Amino acid sequence: MDYPEFKGRTAMITGGASGMGLLSGKKLAEAGANVVLCDVSKEKLEAAAEEIRAAGGSVLPLVVDIRHYAEVEQAERKAVETFGSVDILLNCAGGMSGRCCNCYKSFEELPIEVIDWGLDVNLRGAIYCCRAVLAGMMKRKRGVIINFGSVTGEEGGGGASLDYSAEKSAMRGMTKSLAILGAPHNVRSCCVIPGPVLTRPGMANMKTLLGRAAETIELVDFILYLCSDKAAFITGSAHVIDGGHLLVR
Ligand SMILES: NC(=O)c1ccc[n+]([C@@H]2O[C@H](COP(=O)([O-])OP(=O)(O)OC[C@H]3O[C@@H](n4cnc5c(N)ncnc54)[C@H](O)[C@@H]3O)[C@@H](O)[C@H]2O)c1
Repeated sequence: MDYPEFKGRTAMITGGASGMGLLSGKKLAEAGANVVLCDVSKEKLEAAAEEIRAAGGSVLPLVVDIRHYAEVEQAERKAVETFGSVDILLNCAGGMSGRCCNCYKSFEELPIEVIDWGLDVNLRGAIYCCRAVLAGMMKRKRGVIINFGSVTGEEGGGGASLDYSAEKSAMRGMTKSLAILGAPHNVRSCCVIPGPVLTRPGMANMKTLLGRAAETIELVDFILYLCSDKAAFITGSAHVIDGGHLLVR
């Protein structure tokens, strides 16, 4: 699908150096958007920015740890100074705390620092990013915020999933509140709820009705649609994209 409306708009993408965040950044840049990639990984950010620039895209890579509000606020300010606005926020940064902290224990044995990582990145960080961009979007009367849930937030999960399921199901509620707050100012918000996505090979093992995991582009195509003017009537909603994972018995 063609999205001429993205030309000149600016997308701030957390977790933008990898996975769905990175591919969304590449596709938005191809469509003419300015892309602000925010991530903790300097090396991955530099490689991502290089690739986008080489393809003719407009990109600002920023090392940002979304657990710290001052860093998030500074990133928003830098994006506006550089490009004039933040029109799209993709709240991608996150993941299951046990996996991301390399600590494969069951919840009752998980170190509190690992649980805190999950709460800080998946929940606090996502809220901080909304807080930082919302006032500008409302003032400019244009914005879309996409939050990332997970099927684990819908169905729960064993092992180390407890904090992750709580943080990810919270994305639904946050999205509804953002939609209510934003609607009078032409700011929309949607929640994307992925099942297994092949941003890493391990996701191929998760069961779905379709018998496979999603290619990253299958999520990104839908995310771009939600961000576009073609989705102007869609707000406050949650969209499960899981190949039928939640229906597997
Ligand atoms: N991949 C899947 O199968 C899947 C399934 C359900 C939900 N999700 C959710 O979708 C989102 C994107 O997933 P993905 O697999 O594309 O991600 P990914 O693991 O490829 O990338 C996540 C990025 O977030 C960055 N990050 C981590 N902590 C950060 C912090 N404090 N500040 C800034 N950046 C930080 C990492 O460096 C990494 O580049 C995540 O929120 C994830 O929980 C993914």
